[in-house]
Amino acid sequence: MDRYTQASPERPLSVLFVCLGNICRSPAAQGVMEDMAKRADRASSYRLDSAGLYGGHAGEMPDRRMQIHARARGYSLMHRSRPVRESDFDNFDIIVAMDASNRRGLMDLAPTPEAQEKIVMMTDFCRSHPGADHVPDPYYEGAEGFELVLDLLEDACAGLLDATTPGHE
Ligand code: 4NP
Repeated sequence: MDRYTQASPERPLSVLFVCLGNICRSPAAQGVMEDMAKRADRASSYRLDSAGLYGGHAGEMPDRRMQIHARARGYSLMHRSRPVRESDFDNFDIIVAMDASNRRGLMDLAPTPEAQEKIVMMTDFCRSHPGADHVPDPYYEGAEGFELVLDLLEDACAGLLDATTPGHE
């Protein structure tokens, strides 16, 4: 994680969270990270957004099930779905994929090798789920699927926050 720059109000770190539909995992990642940064008094050190590789839900609020499970943990998800754009590779410092399929889609969309280097996996930041290598798509799952997503996202966002906070590894 030492290659991540430290986020500060003078040089905010811009992070784009990406999944397939941008209505479940990535807007939840954005909401969890916004909340954690705010609680750490670090909100002004980050610029956070999310997007999806599939544009079919563009303009929609997060899936109602995701909203309910997030709300129960104190997160309100306000993002409206939008597709990933090539310009995102210019406009964000890191682009965080939820699973291997997202990662492949982003690699295909990245205009340059430098742009490809901005792509990381969300689970790379997990510390309490050492075996996890992706955040599973909850769309066709039950309540446990949404709870697992939130468990992984809370772990990863705490790791991302620490990895980009001055004075931490
Ligand atoms: P997400 O979940 O990628 O976490 O937002 C999904 C949302 C919609 C679909 C698939 C996954 N879909 O097929 O429409």
